[in-house]
Amino acid sequence: MVEITLELPSIGVSQPPVSVLQQLRTATGPRHMALEARLPLTHPQLDLGTYTRIIQAYYGFHLPLQQSMERFLAPQPIEPARQKIPALIKDLHALGLNDVQILALPQCRELPAINSVAQLLGVMYVMEGATLGGQVLRRIIADRLGVDADSGGEFLDVYGRDTGRLWKAFLKQLADFDTPLHNAELVQSACFTFECFQMWLERAGVLNGA
Ligand code: HEM
Repeated sequence: MVEITLELPSIGVSQPPVSVLQQLRTATGPRHMALEARLPLTHPQLDLGTYTRIIQAYYGFHLPLQQSMERFLAPQPIEPARQKIPALIKDLHALGLNDVQILALPQCRELPAINSVAQLLGVMYVMEGATLGGQVLRRIIADRLGVDADSGGEFLDVYGRDTGRLWKAFLKQLADFDTPLHNAELVQSACFTFECFQMWLERAGVLNGA
């Protein structure tokens, strides 16, 4: 008996589209790894002085970036649950800075543009994703420096027990937006956000050697 094997022609069988989340992970993964390796937050020699300078630099990036988001979203405000500046100010106070010193901290001017929803979501992917790593970092800071939410570590746990819920809600927003027409712009915005943040931290002198 002759066995006949039927094969589907490969022409015309299209691959399922790659989700924007997957595209973001592929494009930003190496940037995340590079930044993580150079940020001394997990390094055994981290001291309180370096940690304080990192939080100062974080403030100098997050404040103008949040203001830029607010300008784009206006008249709608940023979701109150996603406000990060109060936690940074609380940490800076706990780490010994007064209001005048906080107001005098340098602020980043080379920020990713936010002129479209795609760009906004690209920026948010990076800044919201960072709250996931914060869950690991807050334990390290507590062990190494004895710093907790009331002594300078609030920002690393900025969403507390809402971290998972807010991340999932953001992923839903991302999936609802997912459209081939704008995904390249969104992914580019996320990559640029990583690059701007890294350049800013570099200028602030808080990164270890390249
Ligand atoms: C030493 C510093 C860092 C460590 C140890 C770290 C660690 C982590 C870890 C463990 C996750 C995965 C969490 C999970 O899957 O539940 C994560 C996710 C993420 N982190 Fe970091 N991180 C660091 C710094 C940063 C910084 C500075 C940024 C950006 C400003 C960032 C952006 C992200 C993003 C966007 C994700 C989400 C990836 C995804 O699931 O799509 N991280 N990080």
